[in-house]
Amino acid sequence: MIIAIDGPAASGKGTMARKLATMLEIPHLDTGLTFRAVAHALLRAGLPLDNEDLAAEAAAALNLASLDRSVLSAHEIGNAASKVAVMPKVRTALLEAQRTFANRPGGAVLDGRDIGTVVCPDADVKLFVTASAKVRARRRTDEILSRGEAADYEQVLADVKQRDERDQNRAVAPLVPAADAHLLDTSKLDIESAFQHAVRIVEEKKNRSL
Ligand code: DC
Repeated sequence: MIIAIDGPAASGKGTMARKLATMLEIPHLDTGLTFRAVAHALLRAGLPLDNEDLAAEAAAALNLASLDRSVLSAHEIGNAASKVAVMPKVRTALLEAQRTFANRPGGAVLDGRDIGTVVCPDADVKLFVTASAKVRARRRTDEILSRGEAADYEQVLADVKQRDERDQNRAVAPLVPAADAHLLDTSKLDIESAFQHAVRIVEEKKNRSL
């Protein structure tokens, strides 16, 4: 079973993807980390974020097995990732690795922005997880503070809105729900309720396929 989970920054899609993968005992790929790793490689080498050929080279050199969430989850790397993600050559370089992961024999859960529309258009279950910008900014601020780092809610809210704008309006693979995606607004749901909702959708699909 391939499960595609898309949604904007801090919508809760990552947590949902991880929990579903654990429940179904199948691997999970957070494709945001692949874009973050490209941005991080450029920043670490002191290279600009707006040179498409350099960014595509970094994308081609990426090894999915070496993605380090603890390094890549920094808030600034998310903003930088959103900038390299507008480049078609970067997306093409990452797409093959993402699809290979998705097509493993036992199935997989992938989360990102274009999984249901571009990476896995034939996924068995597609979820589009969202929440209001304010709720997402509050969650992201709390998450940064819980890591012992400084965070300013208004700044995080401005970043979230800017990232939405860039991710939704880019020319290639923009953030948009697939026509056959189940929409899940988590603004008023806690993680567990949102997860239970997703589990019901997955179980229904499994029962229909039996
Ligand atoms: O999910 P995230 O916040 O870690 O993603 C970081 C950025 O990567 C996001 O702002 C846009 C980009 N991204 C993308 O364009 N396509 C994906 N499938 C996943 C992430």
